[in-house]
Amino acid sequence: MCGIVGYIGPRDAYPIIIKGLKRLEYRGYDSAGVALLNGQLNVYKKAGKVSDLEDFIANKNIDGNIGIGHTRWATHGEPNDVNAHPHISGDGNLVIIHNGIIENYAVLKEELQSRGHEFKSDTDTEVLAHLIEEVHKNNDYPIEKSVRVALQEVVGAYAIVVMSQDEPDKLVAARKSSPLVIGVGKDNDEYFIASDASPIVEYTKNVVYLNDGEVATVCRNGEFRIKNKEAQEETPFIQELELKLEQLEKGGYDHFMLKEIFEQPTSIYDTFRGRFHVERNYLQLGGLKEHENRFLHANRIIIVACGTSWHAGLVGEYLIENFAKIPVEVEYASEFRYRNPIINEKDIVIAISQSGETADTLAALELAEEKGAMTFGICNVVGSSIARFTKAGAYTHAGPEIGVASTKAFTSQLTVITLLALHLGVLKGQLSASEWQEIASELETIPKKVEEALKSNEKILEISHRFYESPDFLYLGRGVNFPVALEGALKLKEISYIHAEGYPAGEMKHGPIALIDDEMPVVCIATNEDAYEKMVSNIQEVKARKGIIIAIVNEGEKEISKTADYVIEVPHTLDAFSPLIATIPLQLLSYHIAVLRGTDVDQPRNLAKSVTVE
Ligand code: M6R
Repeated sequence: MCGIVGYIGPRDAYPIIIKGLKRLEYRGYDSAGVALLNGQLNVYKKAGKVSDLEDFIANKNIDGNIGIGHTRWATHGEPNDVNAHPHISGDGNLVIIHNGIIENYAVLKEELQSRGHEFKSDTDTEVLAHLIEEVHKNNDYPIEKSVRVALQEVVGAYAIVVMSQDEPDKLVAARKSSPLVIGVGKDNDEYFIASDASPIVEYTKNVVYLNDGEVATVCRNGEFRIKNKEAQEETPFIQELELKLEQLEKGGYDHFMLKEIFEQPTSIYDTFRGRFHVERNYLQLGGLKEHENRFLHANRIIIVACGTSWHAGLVGEYLIENFAKIPVEVEYASEFRYRNPIINEKDIVIAISQSGETADTLAALELAEEKGAMTFGICNVVGSSIARFTKAGAYTHAGPEIGVASTKAFTSQLTVITLLALHLGVLKGQLSASEWQEIASELETIPKKVEEALKSNEKILEISHRFYESPDFLYLGRGVNFPVALEGALKLKEISYIHAEGYPAGEMKHGPIALIDDEMPVVCIATNEDAYEKMVSNIQEVKARKGIIIAIVNEGEKEISKTADYVIEVPHTLDAFSPLIATIPLQLLSYHIAVLRGTDVDQPRNLAKSVTVE
């Protein structure tokens, strides 16, 4: 995710762009940059936050009534000054800002290089700048047409704004799968372009949301054209903004956490996008490619992680052992290094970390490396310490997670682990093409099923009203959903400050059953079929002790639904993917309970998003 801003009109562009970038900074803060046109083109860009860019620009030429700006969440290329946007074409005439991923950028880059183009950065966006320049020069097309024609060659997602010295009185914007809003000034003499309406709302309430495939041109003389893929002109549909600025900063949600819970259909899709294609028999985790041999001959995989990421690791153990038949051990990173673990060069140590900065996880990796093991990172934050330290890895691409309680990062970690397990299964000859394709076809349905699961929100709010004053909670699950029980309990603990325990349901009779009385809410996750019959029995055992059952079951389930006090139905999927679905109602339950208790949901007490102390 990145944030993009553009302005053309009678005012100074720079203050509008900088303010806009600050509002969009939640979308990424690896680097920021602006480009301003005023007879000459001035481009300023800097790794770090928007404030770093401001410091850098102090005393520089910021004149101009037309300009673009970008705040970056790095995908291609590390977050440094060179990779920061805006990116400039080879001839220096054209600048571009981009939010999204150009999936076929490597092929395009090679082609352009063969025609003499030289690139400065590692980004996919710079390729687009050169591609538009190439189309512009070869055909003598105006900039708007050059953008449209160039985009026909692009596979991937983008929201872009292009500014050119050749046509200095216009901005050209286009989108596919990444958001873009155009604000129309009240006298139609100025236009604002942004990733969301937050940079615009203070200047105008009139906005046009660009649709996929559309290219828009806004001009200093007031002209505003939108053309669709077929180059037919469309009438801009102007809407009035109703939202308040503060709400927009959280995308209209009360909390970042809720927003992030509801983003999961998209974030899960973003995680697997481009990594497999069922019909084309294509399955590839980029980071694994060079190291396939090492994985193929590994004695075992050790997963190290903390908190929610450790829970993802536990699901990973189930999936990798199941699909690839490689032995897996999952360790708390904070314990691993203090017990002098036996590790050797035939081991692979996988670190899972949203932030990529967790000190315990990093230290565990250092130890593994010292002992000769190969290290592999599964991180969300691009360019983070763990991502840089590990020999190879796979990003989760969940987008920035701002709420301290991890939600979408967890489901994206599960998605990467699934792809890893499938890939290894194929490599090891444990899965035939038809087997992995059948499993991957089901994976493709998960974003839709998560969307369905989110529809239980209202019902969960009602249930939360009944339980928000309970002092204790128990969460039970079996098999692949035992880690989901742990994760549900952690979510509740960290944001509502209610004591909660996650337990494998079969272990209950060995102790925790003593806690159950007629006031104890027991959340039972019973969506995986391999443990269903056993869960039915465990739920009966809780009921016999008068425990209050909140059951998460598959749609249409009959038996548990008769016994349970509260039933939350979710769509059915393969057992391997049931954590991706079952975790949704648990996130919502913890969220609503925390809100009802009046806690600081996004920044719960004593916690930090990135734990950089051991
Ligand atoms: O950034 P990491 O994934 O390495 O962080 C690990 C834990 O600190 C993190 O998952 C923590 O438990 C979250 N607050 C859970 O919601």
